[in-house]
Amino acid sequence: MKILVTGAKGQLGQVFQKKEKQIKAEFIFQDSKALDITDFDTLEKYFQKNNFDYCVNCAAYTDVEGAESDKEKAFLVNATAVEHLAKLCQKHQVVLIHPSTDYVFDGQKKSAYSENDQTHPINVYGASKLEGERHIQKHLTTHFILRTSWLYSEFGKNFFTFIKGQIDQNAKEVSITTEQKGTPTNANDLAAFILWLISQKSKDYGIYHFSNKGSLTWYDFTLKIKALYKSALEVKAVAHFETKAKRPENSTLDKSKLTMHFNYEVKSWEKSLANLIAEIG
Ligand SMILES: NC(=O)c1ccc[n+]([C@@H]2O[C@H](COP(=O)([O-])OP(=O)(O)OC[C@H]3O[C@@H](n4cnc5c(N)ncnc54)[C@H](OP(=O)(O)O)[C@@H]3O)[C@@H](O)[C@H]2O)c1
Repeated sequence: MKILVTGAKGQLGQVFQKKEKQIKAEFIFQDSKALDITDFDTLEKYFQKNNFDYCVNCAAYTDVEGAESDKEKAFLVNATAVEHLAKLCQKHQVVLIHPSTDYVFDGQKKSAYSENDQTHPINVYGASKLEGERHIQKHLTTHFILRTSWLYSEFGKNFFTFIKGQIDQNAKEVSITTEQKGTPTNANDLAAFILWLISQKSKDYGIYHFSNKGSLTWYDFTLKIKALYKSALEVKAVAHFETKAKRPENSTLDKSKLTMHFNYEVKSWEKSLANLIAEIG
């Protein structure tokens, strides 16, 4: 089994590199320099030359604030390049596993979002990711679109590494918003699920929600990180931060489709956070 991982130096890509030995397969990790997914000629030749069984697309434009002023780049990477990837996967019989986002929703629903709920992105990043999803659904049968939320890990710039950095530097206080509700997702859990899907050779293609279990604010998440590190960091609750990009008020994802379809147990956000901290210290 031959698996291409694009965007291999990103957060999820690095988690994959850590876990590659967990299944019997040949992994080819390509970062943005070695394989730019917007370079269509190169991508086409690359797919022709290699006989991939799976492509895990960890490449994305993820700068939610930056996307507001660089709409063209966000759509090029998250939509146009994904369309191309989907067409190539269809042509070469490759299964595409593609993470998407909770930001495809507007956040007005009071309960968790299921896969069938109406999408209505309220920022450019969310709109570009939604267009990517639509291209995949249009051009490729063999796909898993995995919408995830608040991805964190020990790698790269994410909310967890930001708070951990503040704690490590003995910062006195941080101000964190109480405005949004959702669920953090340990990227290690998402990668483990993707590897499980591949090992099962599942053909239950489609769109699924994957996050950890629970619903909380960034403020609640910060308090838990602080408690687990037994830190004295003062966490100030702030109702609203002015940002370029709007964020959904509630982007909690309902995972029942995934848990029922695959009989797969998703970990609670507290357990998963504790696991990561126990692992990395
Ligand atoms: N992070 C979150 O909170 C979050 C939440 C929900 C969903 N997701 C989704 O989860 C997936 C993984 O996110 P992540 O946190 O791992 O993102 P990330 O850390 O920003 O990694 C994205 C990677 O994609 C690469 N990339 C950008 N443009 C590329 C191109 N044209 N060709 C090839 N590679 C390119 C980047 O490389 P350079 O740095 O060299 O540009 C980077 O290494 C994405 O699909 C994202 O939309 C993330």
